[in-house]
Amino acid sequence: MTGALVFALPGNEAFADRLALAVNGERGHLTLHDFPDGESFVRVDTSPAGRDAVLVATLKSPNPKFLPLAFLADALRDLGAKRIGIVAPYLAYMRQDKRFHDGEAITSHSFAALISRLADWMVTVDPHLHRITSLRELYSIPATAIHVASELGSWIATHVQSPLIVGPDEESRQWVEGIAAAAGAPYIVSTKTRLGDAQVIESTPELGDHRACTPVLVDDIISTGRTMIAAIQHLRAQGSVAPVCMAVHAVFADGAYAALTAAGVSQIVTTNTIAHPSNRIDIEPAVARGVRSELGIG
Ligand code: R5P
Repeated sequence: MTGALVFALPGNEAFADRLALAVNGERGHLTLHDFPDGESFVRVDTSPAGRDAVLVATLKSPNPKFLPLAFLADALRDLGAKRIGIVAPYLAYMRQDKRFHDGEAITSHSFAALISRLADWMVTVDPHLHRITSLRELYSIPATAIHVASELGSWIATHVQSPLIVGPDEESRQWVEGIAAAAGAPYIVSTKTRLGDAQVIESTPELGDHRACTPVLVDDIISTGRTMIAAIQHLRAQGSVAPVCMAVHAVFADGAYAALTAAGVSQIVTTNTIAHPSNRIDIEPAVARGVRSELGIG
């Protein structure tokens, strides 16, 4: 067997199993252990010598995941892996991409530099690109963003009657347009004012002729859920039916899923970039296409 070896960080095993099959590779085995003092032990149990290695690590709550990932990548390189790729279906530290106030660390830049030191390439799914337009501006290694608008649009076309795609803020326009096109549905984009982590004000455009539609709120991330909740309140105040809430990444900070469920939503739908009960859309095949291309197997 000479195909790629696909290693999974904890919690990524099922995704890695399917990815290994899709790239004609094989699962690589490793042992990870936390010592009583909190340090990590990492052992590679499948020799990577002369082979491509793919590390699957979705990076929600990234801090405790980063060091084992770094140790694993370094060990693989040391043990003779040909090229090392990181597959991070959810990529962390994409929002602090500028210094908003004096003295703040620009963590998007720092994190990208750390990942770029570990691997030869990276594949992720719809990263939060706002003030920057391409991962190339951050990452010094080839970094591919897989876009899953067509997967989201197909789900909507199959499951929602008379959908109206609603973006809760200007930043969401980049996803909304593609999703609406894939769903064959109209769209509107709201204006959002964020006053703090948990305080959001939405000004939704008039629903007008779309009042009879089912609103489908779409965003890249649901974190505190405040953006979605504010948007739901504005839509309901205009007499809309309970909307569907859809996001690529089910980040859901503590209590957010329960708060959103209680906010008058008909359904919450996410992709499986982060495992969560709301996952309905499988993006593994789209990720596999990106990985196959990095591995040069088309
Ligand atoms: C913001 O720019 C993002 O696209 C999301 O709208 C935001 O991260 C959602 O956060 P929350 O769920 O905390 O309102």
